[in-house]
Formats: sequence, structure tokens, C-alpha cells
Amino acid sequence: MSTLKRVPTDFAVLGGTPAFDHPLPVGQLYFPSWERYEEAMRGIFERGWFTNHGPLAQELERRFAELADVRNAITVTNATLGLVMGAKALGLTGRVVVPSFTFVATAQAMTWAGLEVVFADVDRETHQLTPATLAPVLDDDVSAVLAVNLWGGTCGPDALEELCAERGVTLFFDSAHGTGVSVGGRPLGGRGALEVFSFHATKTLSATEGGCVCTDDDELASRLRNIRSSYGAGAPVAVEVTGNGRFSEAQAAIALLNLDDLPANVANNARLHTAYTEGLAGIDGIRVVAPTGADESTYPYLVAEVDETTFGMSRDALVGLLAAENVIARRYFRPGVHRLPPYRDDPRNVALHLPTTEHLARTLVQLPIGALVDLGSVERICTLVGAAHRLSGHLVAREAA
Ligand SMILES: Cc1ncc(COP(=O)(O)O)c(C=O)c1O
Repeated sequence: MSTLKRVPTDFAVLGGTPAFDHPLPVGQLYFPSWERYEEAMRGIFERGWFTNHGPLAQELERRFAELADVRNAITVTNATLGLVMGAKALGLTGRVVVPSFTFVATAQAMTWAGLEVVFADVDRETHQLTPATLAPVLDDDVSAVLAVNLWGGTCGPDALEELCAERGVTLFFDSAHGTGVSVGGRPLGGRGALEVFSFHATKTLSATEGGCVCTDDDELASRLRNIRSSYGAGAPVAVEVTGNGRFSEAQAAIALLNLDDLPANVANNARLHTAYTEGLAGIDGIRVVAPTGADESTYPYLVAEVDETTFGMSRDALVGLLAAENVIARRYFRPGVHRLPPYRDDPRNVALHLPTTEHLARTLVQLPIGALVDLGSVERICTLVGAAHRLSGHLVAREAA
């Protein structure tokens, strides 16, 4: 293991020793202590109640509703399914706008719900959908907008709500990254018609897999609960079709433990985020992009923008170099969803040019942050990035040779 890279051949891509012994991944990747997990699982075994809205799922819904300051929190198998169920429960038809700069599931969930996806660009500074980037595609054929609250920041939901209300269009939110984030003194959860959170292992609140649909509309919540269980939820609310979006007790057990540890995990993220911001500040051509539009972020991602000309190597070359050092950086989101199947082959998207999405897809990198990362690792990663910049001319030339 070696962090000091004085000459190009010290880098693992050119035969040197990797800076880290084990791969350091991107993602929150929270693990409770084995003792606490064992105790939670023992309770499940003793009750003999594994799924079908058991006591732990019910407790998580109560506690998440409190955290998000919302009347209804409906746990689901994952956020992708939550988005499909949300669109169905809202009775949406026709066209829905989504930002192209998002995880592919945002758009694909709408396709599964039988909707036609229209792509909008995002803001250059915040990476979020804004009224200015939404307006050009908000024509009379659009029935809904699915906005995304990215990176532990927000898209400024109040301004979007105003625009969509003016245009008579349903607004709902993919808040997969948004657990614990607040804006305007209110947590995410009760904006728009509904908000969907992800409890994937890489997210701020992990259930290993999972998600939650939040809404202040009790009738909509009853429809969602009915859709969630193919047995029906008992509530006599007519829905077009039911499914299986159930959330197991094992998922709920992990999420509840994580909820207990959330303040400590967020504080750890904030510390690491500050360390990266300071550690990368003096390196030309790489800039940390802080989450925007939030009173206080949970810092679930460390997002940096690489300017190839000034940094001396492309974002992709840096990711390759870091991977050899066992730093598993990511390129989210690449490419923009309008350039992914099945959307890229649609004649309307072939000619679609979304300059900011395409720019961000080329230049952004996510560095490891979360429960598996400590300050020492951040320091070593920043040193590596600095050395990559300093030796970039030699590294690029040697790799090309
Ligand atoms: C913006 C966004 N939306 C939706 C999802 C899908 O979440 P899940 O994996 O819980 O289905 C993700 C997951 O990474 C995401 O980043």
C-alpha cells in the first residue's frame, strides 16, 4: 500500500503499488453492529412475522413520517417500484417530464407506468431541474412533471410547485437522495403530490433495498397501500391494478437501526465532505460541487467536476487511474438518460441536445464518502488526485504509449 506517488511509475496503472489494499466504493454502505442486527433478527424469528406489513415496517413508517413531517409514509420494496406505484396511484396518463440528468430508474419507472417520457435539461451550477430548464418542454401535452432532488440537495421544490400549479400539471418528486434533507425550514416528504425516497444500500437510510412513498393526501395514500399488496390493504379504495411492493421485516430492521444512527452518519458525511473540499481546493482543474437548495445537506455524495484542460487529464482517465489504486470512483450520471435505451432510439430523442446534461455526463466524478470512509482515506485520495494532476502530462503520455 503506497500513497506517495513521486514519479509516474509509482501509480498502479503503470505498475506501482495500489494506494489502498481493498476497493473503497462510492455509497453510504451503512452496516449496524452484528450484535444489534442479531437482536433485531431474533425478534423477527420469535414473532414469526416476516413480511405483510409487520410491526417493524409499521414502526419505520411512523418514524419516517415524523422525520419527513408528512401524514403518510408508505414503505415499498424499492424506490423504482415506488415511482411506478406513485404514477399509477395518481392516475397519470400521457406525457411526463423528467430531467435527463438522473439515474435511469427515474425515467424507466415512468415507462413501466405506461407514460411517455419527455426529457428536460438541468441547471449548470446546481445540476437540478429548475423552472428555467423545465419551461421549454412544458407544453399542453404534458400531464405531469417528475422532478428529482439530487445529491442531498433539492431542486427548489417550491418554485417548481408554483410553475406546475399555474400550468395545471401534476408535480411529484423522486427524492431517492433526499432522506433527512430540508429546505425552507421543512424536510422533504410533503412536497408535490407525493415524494419517493430510496432505502438502497448506497443511500442515506439503508434497508439494503427499499423505499418509501410519502404524501399528505390520505386518499392517495390509501390507493398506494392498496396497490402495494396484491391482497389489497383492507381499505376499500378502488385501484386500477394491484401488485407486490411489500417491504419485509428484515428490511425494516436494518432501516430502523440506521435511523437510530442517522445523525452520526450524517455528521460523518459532513466531516468527510469538508475534508474533500479543503483537500482538493488547491488542485487546479477539479472542483467540489456542494449540494444546493437545502437548509442543511446530509452529504450522501461527493461530487466533483473535472476540467480536462486545466487538470491535465480527462475525467474518464482519472477514474481509471483511481480504480487501479482501489478507489472506485463513479461517473454518475453517464450518459444522460435520453442517450440510454430505450429512449435514445426514439426519433424525438435522437436529435435532442441537452447541453448541460451532456456536459455534466462528461465531467463529473463521485468519490467515496459514507460509513466505510474515514478522514485518513479522504486525505490519501486528495493526495492521489493532486499527484495525478502534477504528473498528468507524463501519465497521459505513458498510458498512450
Ligand atoms: C435519483 C434516483 N432515483 C431512483 C433511484 C432508484 O432507487 P432504488 O434503487 O431504490 O429503486 C435511484 C437509485 O440509485 C436514484 O439515484
